[in-house]
Amino acid sequence: MQEIHIVDIRKLAETIKEKYNYDFTNYAMSSFKRRVSRILELYKFNNVESLIKKISESEAYFQEFLSEITVNVTEMFRDPSFWRVLRDKIIPNILLNHQKISIWHAGCSSGEEVYSMAILLKEMGILESSKIVATDIDPIIIEKAKKGVYPIKNMDLNDKNYLRVQGTEDFNKYYEEKNGYAYMDKSLVENVSFRIHDLVNGMVFSKFDIVMCRNVMIYFNQTLQNDVLKKLHESIFKYGYLAIGSKESLIWCEIANKFIVVNNEEKVYKKIKE
Ligand SMILES: C[S@@+](CC[C@H](N)C(=O)[O-])C[C@H]1O[C@@H](n2cnc3c(N)ncnc32)[C@H](O)[C@@H]1O
Repeated sequence: MQEIHIVDIRKLAETIKEKYNYDFTNYAMSSFKRRVSRILELYKFNNVESLIKKISESEAYFQEFLSEITVNVTEMFRDPSFWRVLRDKIIPNILLNHQKISIWHAGCSSGEEVYSMAILLKEMGILESSKIVATDIDPIIIEKAKKGVYPIKNMDLNDKNYLRVQGTEDFNKYYEEKNGYAYMDKSLVENVSFRIHDLVNGMVFSKFDIVMCRNVMIYFNQTLQNDVLKKLHESIFKYGYLAIGSKESLIWCEIANKFIVVNNEEKVYKKIKE
């Protein structure tokens, strides 16, 4: 892998910001650099300069770049103990005061998290009355999420996670296997609104009982985490919940005092102040 200088990374981020209005300037430098380096190898660019040139000249290429620069790794029922807490504690708590539940998956990637939620809500008998919005910055990955078609080899891990969540059904009833792919049951996401949304430049667009923003802010620096968390805070009803990834934290951010910790291990917080 070739050595990449910070000045080149800055130049790249500035070009993208000017030309396409996506702002990567506050993404965490080390992982952003790694991704750029991977892209240079993948597309056989000699240096960052040639990458910048290609991005400036071709919007179609920029879309590919966008897909490569973001980390889309995900799985169904990722961190099974989190999903148990969600089902056994958080959702029942919301239902004490609400008949319906609204959820935003911010940074949903290829949708595995959304299908997990739909399965969980279905087994609780509340899927039809729930409102789910699932968003991501990457248009290509959102299309994948909508389709819900995954390599069958991934289903082993998904199934293992589901077993650890102690779901009530046979996991394979939720998909059909064809030509090496698992086609998820479409009815699960009938009422899900999949949309493109950028957490950095995008507006606050609604309020929710639960906001899931897991394993997204890990790729942002502290300044950006602060800004994005303010938007997430605005997007949650008072006494609603925020779930972040296991390696992420609210502790250092400005709005930390507007939340209480509900479950420290599973990184679930409750909004207590506007
Ligand atoms: C590692 S995946 C997390 C998927 C899922 N939430 C999980 O925990 O398994 C991170 C996702 O965040 C998305 N992302 C990165 N920057 C974003 C931004 N500014 N706005 C919205 N989504 C973003 C990426 O495209 C990627 O799909």
